Amino acid sequence: MNDKKDGAAEKGPPLALVVAVAENGVIGKENGLPWHISSDLKRFRALTMGKPLLMGRKTFESIGRALPGRETILISRDPAFVPSPGVHHAVTIDSALALAAARAEVMKADEIIIAGGSEIFAALLDRVNRMYVTFIAAAPKGDVFFPSVDWSNWEEIHREDHLPQKGDDAAFSFVDFVRRDASHHATQAMP
Ligand SMILES: NC(=O)c1ccc[n+]([C@@H]2O[C@H](COP(=O)([O-])OP(=O)(O)OC[C@H]3O[C@@H](n4cnc5c(N)ncnc54)[C@H](OP(=O)(O)O)[C@@H]3O)[C@@H](O)[C@H]2O)c1
Repeated sequence: MNDKKDGAAEKGPPLALVVAVAENGVIGKENGLPWHISSDLKRFRALTMGKPLLMGRKTFESIGRALPGRETILISRDPAFVPSPGVHHAVTIDSALALAAARAEVMKADEIIIAGGSEIFAALLDRVNRMYVTFIAAAPKGDVFFPSVDWSNWEEIHREDHLPQKGDDAAFSFVDFVRRDASHHATQAMP
């Protein structure tokens, strides 16, 4: 499905960003992940199942396929992109959001997942309502970084610290955040 128009009003369920980020802010390397953490892949699957996923063209190419049980809204300025089953195409951020909201309604999904990469996170960070962050206890070399976040705008509502399990390169923490009310000005250190 190709989108037809830009600038559609934002509507639909909340936007939830899902990211795994290293201590040095790295999220990617050579269009892939610079770590292998099976536990995080399982968490990504559980968090995203049954929901529409917005992702940039490079992230889609790094995954290389539609993810079962989800619908991908791929953002690319290339109008020639050919959609496939489970993969929709939008040429702008706003048309991608409108398309994701429509798909969420059909899927009865309670949130729209912002799945990256860096360009898409940067474009949507101000509009995201929730963040599911995996903090990786490592500082690998990489070429793509999570955009800078003002953590005082975010309230940590859940945290799980984990030692590496079988198939995990490093220790990690799963931390859920919700955006603070705009009137709340408490400061919070980088988690
Ligand atoms: N650690 C994590 O949680 C995580 C999550 C996701 C991705 N990643 C990593 O992040 C890296 C990819 O991220 P990236 O920032 O390089 O690329 P990206 O955000 O995945 O994709 C960038 C592409 O998206 C399209 N795009 C971006 N902004 C747009 C806009 N405003 N309107 C229309 N199209 C737009 C463009 O596609 P066209 O060039 O086709 O126009 C652009 O080249 C990979 O290494 C991946 O493994 C990590």
